[in-house]
Amino acid sequence: MRAMTVIPGRPGSAELTELPEPEAKQGELLVEPLYIGVCGTDREILDGAHGEPPPGRERLVLGHELLGRVKDTGRLVAGIVRRPDPVPCACCARGEWDMCRNGQYTERGIKALDGYGAELVTIEEDFAIPVPDGLGMLGVLSEPSSILAKAWEQIDRIGTRACSVRERVLVIGAGPIGLLAALMGVQRELEVHVLDRATEGVKPETVGALGAGYHTGDVTEVAKRCDPDIVLECTGVAELVAGAMQHTAPGAIVCLTGVAASRNLSVDVGALNNELVLENDVVFGSVNANRRHFEQAVAALQAADPDWLKRLITRTVPLDHWQDALEKGDDDIKVVVEFAHP
Ligand code: BGC
Repeated sequence: MRAMTVIPGRPGSAELTELPEPEAKQGELLVEPLYIGVCGTDREILDGAHGEPPPGRERLVLGHELLGRVKDTGRLVAGIVRRPDPVPCACCARGEWDMCRNGQYTERGIKALDGYGAELVTIEEDFAIPVPDGLGMLGVLSEPSSILAKAWEQIDRIGTRACSVRERVLVIGAGPIGLLAALMGVQRELEVHVLDRATEGVKPETVGALGAGYHTGDVTEVAKRCDPDIVLECTGVAELVAGAMQHTAPGAIVCLTGVAASRNLSVDVGALNNELVLENDVVFGSVNANRRHFEQAVAALQAADPDWLKRLITRTVPLDHWQDALEKGDDDIKVVVEFAHP
C-alpha cells in the first residue's frame, strides 16, 4: 500500500512510500482513509521544523486529519490524534490527554506514531469517532474543528468566573482554524468579527456568508473598533499575538491557538500587565483535543450549513500528488488529499 511519508528533521524528504498493509489487533479497527486534510503542522514537519518518527524508524507516515471508512462495517470515522502518555500523568489518566502534563504523549502523524495518510490504517476503537453519513466528505473537518471545540469549551468555562457578559468576538486569521472558530462563535449567537490580511477573494466572502464582520489592517485599530470580550488568535504571528492581548473589553478572555515562530518584538510589558490586571483579563493557550471535543466538533459540523462548510475545502489533491497539497495558494483555506478505493 502507498503512504505519505517524510523524514522528520530533513526538509525535502517527502515521498509516496510503499509499505506493508497493517493488520488490526484485538480492539482495533481497520480503516480505509477517504480524505486527509493538511495543515500548518504538516508543513512544519515537511520543512524539518517539527515531528518525530516512531522509535527505531527513519520515516513517519504523515496525516492527522482523517476521514475514513471502517473496512468491515462501512461506517465513517475520524481519528483522534493524541495518545495518553504511558506514565500516565493526572490528566492523561482521566482521558484529558490534550492537557498532558509531562510531554510524553504521542500523536498520530506528528510525534512518534504513524499518521493516517496511508491506504489502510488501524485505529484503536476508543480513538475512532463516528461521523454521520450525512456529513460526507465534510467529516474531514472533524479534527481541526476539535481544536476549536476545546478552545471554546475552555473559553466557556473561564467565562463563568464572574458576571462577565460575553457579546463580541474577534477572531484573528481567516484560515481553517479561524473560520471554524468564527463558526462556533456564531453558533453561540455572539457578534463575530474576523481579521485577516486578505483584502478580497474567498476569505472575506466566506466570513460574509457566515454573517460575521470582516476586517483587514492594523490589529490595534480593529480591536479598538470591535472592543471584543473574547479574542481567538489563530495565526501565531507574533505582532498579532501581542495585539490580541491589548485593547480588549474589560474582563476579556484571549485564547491563543497558533504556534509562533521565534521573533523578537518590543512590547511594553508594564502597560500590558496593567491592561490585564486592571481589567481582569485572561490570556490562555490551547492545544489539541480529547474525545469529548471530537464529539462536540462533529455536533458543531452537523449543526452548520453544509454549503458554508463546503467553502472551506478549497482544493482536493489525489494521493499520487499529495505533496502538492502542502503548497498553499493565497486563496486556499483547507486542502485535502483524496484516497481512491475501488
Ligand atoms: C494538531 C494538534 C497537535 C498539535 C501539536 C496540531 O496540528 O491539530 O492535535 O496537538 O498540532 O503537535
